[in-house]
Amino acid sequence: MPKVTMEKIVSLCKRRGFIFPGSEIYGGLANTWDYGPYGVELKNNLKKIWWKTFIQDREDMVGLDASILMNPKVWEASGHIASFSDPLMDCKKCKERIRGDKLIEERISIEAAVGKTLKQISEIIQKEKLPCPKCGATDFTEARSFNLMFKTHQGVIEEESALVYMRPETAQGIFVNFKNVLNTARKKLPFGIGQIGKAFRNEITPGNFTFRTREFEQMEIEYFFDPAATKWENIFDEWKKQSWNFVNDTLGISKDNLRFRDHEKDELSHYSKGTTDIEYLFPFGWGELCAAAAYRTDFDLTQHQKFSGEDLNYSNPEDLKEKIVPHVIEPSFGTDRIALAVLLDAYNEEEINGEIRVVMKFVPALAPVKVAVLPLVKNKEIITGKAREVFNLLKKKYTTEYDEGGSIGKRYRRQDEIGTPYCVTIDFDTVEKDDSVTIRDRDTTNQERVKVDKLVEYFSSKL
Ligand code: GAP
Repeated sequence: MPKVTMEKIVSLCKRRGFIFPGSEIYGGLANTWDYGPYGVELKNNLKKIWWKTFIQDREDMVGLDASILMNPKVWEASGHIASFSDPLMDCKKCKERIRGDKLIEERISIEAAVGKTLKQISEIIQKEKLPCPKCGATDFTEARSFNLMFKTHQGVIEEESALVYMRPETAQGIFVNFKNVLNTARKKLPFGIGQIGKAFRNEITPGNFTFRTREFEQMEIEYFFDPAATKWENIFDEWKKQSWNFVNDTLGISKDNLRFRDHEKDELSHYSKGTTDIEYLFPFGWGELCAAAAYRTDFDLTQHQKFSGEDLNYSNPEDLKEKIVPHVIEPSFGTDRIALAVLLDAYNEEEINGEIRVVMKFVPALAPVKVAVLPLVKNKEIITGKAREVFNLLKKKYTTEYDEGGSIGKRYRRQDEIGTPYCVTIDFDTVEKDDSVTIRDRDTTNQERVKVDKLVEYFSSKL
């Protein structure tokens, strides 16, 4: 069967209501995407599973929901004002603005671009005569640093003092609330704080659908520990495992399409002493899916302590005299990017009775709709009435859809394309003979008859 392509996924997402181009009726706004009826269910399910796995099911984790807009000093302290930038160049002929490192990545290799200084980037592009992606010319300005944070103004006066930034990572909301959480959640080290929320980056080269956008959602954890009590490598390795298990086992992304990649020393973020990503084999090649673990040391808390003047030490409850600034391991997941990998990985084309069907094989927990209830015909009240009864029974427990439009074959195809694990059909036998329905399994297309009063029990072992 042919492999999934980005074009196929973009088209299915639009056709079936997963993801639409942003502001479409106004001609769109480049690289913005809106989640449609099934996309929002998929993304909400992803966030729900993440929250349950990493926050609710663990005694050493608590949650948080911090503001997007923060005091600008946060970004001074965190180093984002000084260091959160990309190497930018302009084509002297057509004025196209490009990211120097991306041009090297695309034209030579990812390895050739990793960790290069501005000067080295300019030199490589000049020496290799790399062409402008728009006009093909080979004459660029020198690479210079471009800060990725979006700026806006708070209040009605657009002056320097009202300048605020849209957060480029959710992590800083966690660090600045460290003391509040410590005082209220009464956790002992090691413990973690997690949150889900939007982040904004004025990316120079957004693209590949929702892979790199300027507005996106993150699911981040800051896991605090005492490096004298536990070696950082142990906690780092444990989080690598947990992150891998989450994307592979829990979300069902095939392990053949996943790999770890350690960051090179000179590629590390300004706060990190070691980072391992999980990469996914996207149709355009291997790309970062999430940061499985990053060792941020005590960098952030120490900086915030310095800039805010607040004491952000942790006291051991058994010995209050002993104070430390905890160190941190950070697993960081991009919600939209993982949703994209889930969509790509679930996509299958199969031949059935000489026809090709497209089927999205989501794990049931991620599927936007769990069960579809389909009356065999729509113009017989006896059938539709019974179907409504079954729908009302199931919708209390599962996201259920009632669908009576079109032939049964067409309705199966539609449910396959949105990845509904089970279709329940109500036919004449249901109402005239056995009070049973036909359940069709999405993946095998096998069908079985189940009594209506056994339906909830049947699905409780499967969904
Ligand atoms: N707090 C650490 C941090 O933000 P990162 O590697 O820059 O680390 C973490 O981002 C994750 O967020 C990435 O692995 C990716 O899943 C997602 N992400 C980052 N930038 C993104 C963008 N422009 N569009 C979509 N997702 C993005």
